[in-house]
Amino acid sequence: MRVLSGIQPSGKLHIGNYFGMMKPALALQGDNEVFLFIANYHALTSMGDPAEMRQFTLDVALDFLACGLDPAKTVFYRQSDIPEVNELAWLLSTVTPMGLLERGHSFKDKTARGMVSSHALFAYPVLMAADILIVNANVVPVGRDQKQHLEMTRDIAQKFNHRFGEVFKIPEAQIREDVAVVPGIDGEKMSKSYDNTIEIFGDSAGKTRKRIMSVVTDSKQLEDPKDPDTCNVFALYRLFANEAQAQEMRDNYAAGGYGYGHAKKALAELFEAHFAPMREKREELQNNLDYVEEVLRKGAERAREETAKVMGAAREAMGLA
Ligand code: ADP
Ligand code: TRP
Repeated sequence: MRVLSGIQPSGKLHIGNYFGMMKPALALQGDNEVFLFIANYHALTSMGDPAEMRQFTLDVALDFLACGLDPAKTVFYRQSDIPEVNELAWLLSTVTPMGLLERGHSFKDKTARGMVSSHALFAYPVLMAADILIVNANVVPVGRDQKQHLEMTRDIAQKFNHRFGEVFKIPEAQIREDVAVVPGIDGEKMSKSYDNTIEIFGDSAGKTRKRIMSVVTDSKQLEDPKDPDTCNVFALYRLFANEAQAQEMRDNYAAGGYGYGHAKKALAELFEAHFAPMREKREELQNNLDYVEEVLRKGAERAREETAKVMGAAREAMGLA
């Protein structure tokens, strides 16, 4: 199976990104051909500061490597090191109906929230289709918010194949239903655009704990029995806990006499235990940036061996070669 996923370098890694995309993608390493990339062309749709772009791009590289990306198993690269992806996006855009893009939730949401609409923001799903199709990926692990983008990719690939012959594989989204939407500290979907995230490496341990302690709950008192299935703290705790730990917290909730403060403390402890080794690894990498650059350079070289094949076939099919 060939797997591909990407993340935009547009902010600090949070546990929504980690559980929604990064962890499931990294779990596929070894048994599959995994391609992971830093979607810096995509991030240009929302960012304009070059220094920030460089910093966030490096952050994503460090985040992935610290969280377990193994460059011996996984092809890891920066999107802009594969400029052909833009050429493919152009070819695909010729078979992409305006109506398809006009129905894009992401475009509608972003402009409704005040983001300046640009051609790039509108055409974002076409570039995303190119990212996926250019390496012939079968499976794309993403959070649920990317579902429509994957449907658009399939649509675009089918339209192209119908017109020009079977050039592209039709990819599938892989959405882990149990972690499809990680709630933020306000209970809405965790997202860097909503200022409700719990960052993994961006904050000090003290600030992270404060964020965890501020997760919203209902107003039940200490002695009241509580419902884990409607509780944001439990939803987050579950992501870190093993079966026995999750069951124990369920029992505590049901029994009463167990406050949300206790649950948050338990969450903070599991959070810390989970990410401490990764934080250490990240600090090591931070002192070895030449290595990180080398990983990305080699990854791009390896990716281009694959992308060259698909690009050749697409050009040929359209009468460009
Ligand atoms: P953000 O919403 O913070 O801007 P991105 O859109 O950059 O995050 O998402 C990067 C990846 O992380 C995508 O695959 C996305 O589906 C996943 N993701 C982001 N937030 C969540 C969340 N709250 N729950 C599950 N997955 C998420
Ligand atoms: N749109 C994705 C996001 O915001 C990032 C992305 C760009 C991506 N190209 C991709 C994800 C290709 C999977 C496959 O999270």
